[in-house]
Amino acid sequence: MAVVEMRGVSKRFGSLVANDQIDLDIASNEIHALLGENGAGKSTLMKILYGFYQPDEGEILVEGKPVTLKSPVDAIRAGIGLVSQHFSLVPTFTVAENIVLGFENTAILNHDKLNQTVADTARRYGFTIEPNAVVRDLSVGQQQRVEILKALYRQCRVLILDEPTAVLTPRDAAALFDTLRQLQKQNLSVIIITHKLEEVMAISQRVTVLRLGKVAGREVTAQTNPQALARLMVGRNVLEVTRNTEHIAAESIALAVNDLSVSDKRGVPALRNVSFDVHAGEVVGIAGIAGNGQSELVAVLGGLIKPDSGEVLVSGQPVELGDPRSFNQMKVARIPEDRLKGVVGDLSVAENLALEQIGDFTRAGHLNHKQMRQMAQLLIADFQIKAEPGDRVRTLSGGNIQKVILARTLSRQPDVVIAAQPTRGLDIGATEYVHQKLLEQKARGAGVLLVSEDLDETRLLSDRILVIYAGSIVGEFSADEIDIDQISLLMAGSKAAVK
Ligand SMILES: Nc1ncnc2c1ncn2[C@@H]1O[C@H](COP(=O)(O)OP(=O)(O)O)[C@@H](O)[C@H]1O
Ligand SMILES: [Mg+2]
Repeated sequence: MAVVEMRGVSKRFGSLVANDQIDLDIASNEIHALLGENGAGKSTLMKILYGFYQPDEGEILVEGKPVTLKSPVDAIRAGIGLVSQHFSLVPTFTVAENIVLGFENTAILNHDKLNQTVADTARRYGFTIEPNAVVRDLSVGQQQRVEILKALYRQCRVLILDEPTAVLTPRDAAALFDTLRQLQKQNLSVIIITHKLEEVMAISQRVTVLRLGKVAGREVTAQTNPQALARLMVGRNVLEVTRNTEHIAAESIALAVNDLSVSDKRGVPALRNVSFDVHAGEVVGIAGIAGNGQSELVAVLGGLIKPDSGEVLVSGQPVELGDPRSFNQMKVARIPEDRLKGVVGDLSVAENLALEQIGDFTRAGHLNHKQMRQMAQLLIADFQIKAEPGDRVRTLSGGNIQKVILARTLSRQPDVVIAAQPTRGLDIGATEYVHQKLLEQKARGAGVLLVSEDLDETRLLSDRILVIYAGSIVGEFSADEIDIDQISLLMAGSKAAVK
């Protein structure tokens, strides 16, 4: 019998149907993956199971009995725990205090007893954690463990994890998966939300795929494969982009970065003597956890900030640092980290497409609107943008806004492309499109610098990976010698990993 079952569950937000007649059953002792693209309805469905939202239709059964979950308190009582994407720990409290918080009256609890109880729970599930440690001193991976332990302390039998690996390095993700297998041995069921096919294959026994709020498929993991799951998830065949090392021109350096140092506003070094080259026809990926100097590097390479020292050469010519126009003239294309800052939302698609070369459409101080619209029509067709030239950009989806940016910048035949988090928040279709466009640039001989927090993406596209940590390049790997364990250690600042 299923430990938990959802039958015909629907949830609407205004006119949007987030969950449409969803059936889901979770067997005892299983790790069940809930797979779907951004916006498919995964979090909503799990928030219903956790009593956070009330369904508009449908019922929930726990061990065969219908239940009404009016709030998370009811869900916890029914044995359901949830670790959401955003942790709810109190940073200044200890691990033990956080775990017991809100569950028992901590004020009257004796501290030694509290620590003992938490240590016992931790031991029972094979966690190594210091009950007395203050949460703000813990790594993200450790904090996630505290959240899990908190659910276990409340005696959950079904543990829901909402995209738990999104905040983890691959190494921490592997450790989490070991923990989940341990929990499974102790008779728990786990529901893991993800949009990563490899994770479904690695950890789950069964998978339910959601698409546009509906169940698109149910599979026994051992009887399916990533390609088939991708098809269910996006509703069509998914092309695999493939990298081709043939294009790399060993003798021709598109981008040379020499000895760049940058301090932030408080004078703390954000980049320390960073040097690297990107060859023509090469994709170089910068791997790192957010906040290790990537944003500053990208800002320098767009002329947005002037470094304390160092130089940047494009095709052998020095660029005027701190001057965006110089980068523009030297044919450096930028795909900005925050795509909403890369466009002017209240201007039309045509105007946004013309932004970087507005001079070409101006005669005697007057904009030639007809010419601008014609160019826009060509780019809209070429880059498959779902919009009209006159549409305001802010009415477009994230994927289409990114296409406007790509069209504007890549249509100018750049020598260097700086792509910062180019697919963050995009669905599979749009992601795949962006990847193809970057590889096209490489094929036509541009040097591409890819700065991404998504290590899978970096691996997929890069000919070479540089690891950045605390403002320094701490490792370099060519595509055929990539060692994910090493990269993870370096990303986390481990000196032991240095070869
Ligand atoms: N509280 C809310 N109010 C309005 N719309 C929401 C709310 N929560 C989610 N949605 C919408 O419901 C859909 C499903 O969202 P969600 O369940 O978060 O998807 P997923 O977790 O699969 O990415 C999305 O279109 C999202 O914008
Ligand atoms: Mg979600």
